[in-house]
Amino acid sequence: MEDLKLGFIGAGFVAHFHARALESVRGADLAGVFSIKGSEEFQQYARDRGLGDCTIYSNIAELCMNCNVIAIFAPNPARIEIVEQILDAVKIGAKLKGLICEKPLGRTVAEAKKLVMLAKEIGAPTAYFENQIHMKAVKNAITQLAPVQQAMGPIALARSAEEHAGPHEPWFWDPTRQGGGVLSDMGCHSIAVGWYVLTPVGKPVRFLEPVSVTADCSLLKWGTPKCRQQLLEKMGVDYSKTPAEDFCTGTVNFRNPETGQIVKAQFTNSWMFDKQGLRLLMDGLGPGYAFEVNSLKSPLEVFIGDEAAQAVADAETALEKATASRGLLAVQPNEADLYGYVDEFIDALTAFKEGKDALLNWDYGLEITRLCQAGYMSAERKQTVDLTDPAIQADLDSYTSLIAQGRGAEVLFA
Ligand SMILES: NC(=O)c1ccc[n+]([C@@H]2O[C@H](COP(=O)([O-])OP(=O)(O)OC[C@H]3O[C@@H](n4cnc5c(N)ncnc54)[C@H](O)[C@@H]3O)[C@@H](O)[C@H]2O)c1
Repeated sequence: MEDLKLGFIGAGFVAHFHARALESVRGADLAGVFSIKGSEEFQQYARDRGLGDCTIYSNIAELCMNCNVIAIFAPNPARIEIVEQILDAVKIGAKLKGLICEKPLGRTVAEAKKLVMLAKEIGAPTAYFENQIHMKAVKNAITQLAPVQQAMGPIALARSAEEHAGPHEPWFWDPTRQGGGVLSDMGCHSIAVGWYVLTPVGKPVRFLEPVSVTADCSLLKWGTPKCRQQLLEKMGVDYSKTPAEDFCTGTVNFRNPETGQIVKAQFTNSWMFDKQGLRLLMDGLGPGYAFEVNSLKSPLEVFIGDEAAQAVADAETALEKATASRGLLAVQPNEADLYGYVDEFIDALTAFKEGKDALLNWDYGLEITRLCQAGYMSAERKQTVDLTDPAIQADLDSYTSLIAQGRGAEVLFA
């Protein structure tokens, strides 16, 4: 079968991560890119690695005419407009075999619903890119524990955390553009991982029914006067006026529709993790068994003393969001593989070749958006959100959190 022709929209941080992942993926060429900024540098990056011609297109219609799998790696606020333009391209003859969108699918439930609707009109199979579910460590834990699970019963408590010291671009910090703070940005990962590992082996990804969400959102570091000033100078975002949460934690309860068992996914996310760099921490506890993943445990450590630190390479080549360039440093030799980017591409492209959705499609992405937004609602109302209540579901359909409206001071400084 002919190789798929991938067209990237966006050429920033995550596009580069995905390009690194593609070095380990067969059956697809990185055929094109359309981006507001960074296309030339990205094209060179792709060509240097032999990933494909990566032709630069000046609009989405041209990209869609020349590629057959479109991957949306642009910022959250641009999603709807981009997908509307993809639909326009399909209406004038573009033939697509797949549509990929990075997390979070939408900034609100209404936005995610609109994207799902547009994708159905486009008519191509979809992939919602949630890399952490595809992490080899997570998949191997589940495979290894499958017979144990069959004998003893499923995992009853999953805990998942993603933390680092804060995002790399101003738009992530601005709640009115990004859709919130760390819950919208990274809570979506941790909630998805929790749901996934709790799901009994062999059942579909949405088998467990979300029942309720209880969450807390706080501003612990970046709201202090000194840090607010740093943020204003570095990112141009004023957290005295429009703050977002830099810490969130909570629990999602799920119900097994066959047995009635309630299981729990606890999530913790922060932009105030001033340690080595990005850390993913997951564990699962079942009756008589458990697993744990810690992405900072690497077989490779390097030490760089004060005197030698002048000559250090870019710290971020060692680890995503690395905050230090001296001392004892964790180095992850293949982060694109470690974090699941390779496996999520393989899953999506294999499915697209068969004309099917990926393991996680956009409908699944919509459910994750719903759970994150229920988290904001719970934190705002200071109560558990009952997802089985039709009135709550109706509220969620039109809900935009106060934080995303730019009114975070009302909840974070209260
Ligand atoms: N899976 C993960 O762990 C992960 C990590 C980082 C980012 N992401 C997601 O990926 C998306 C992009 O994040 P990023 O970190 O790469 O952001 P970024 O700001 O580093 O890069 C965004 C890129 O999109 C381009 N762009 C902006 N508006 C555009 C538009 N309207 N049309 C086309 N191109 C446009 C920019 O010029 C830039 O090249 C976000 O939705 C983010 O949530 C996921």
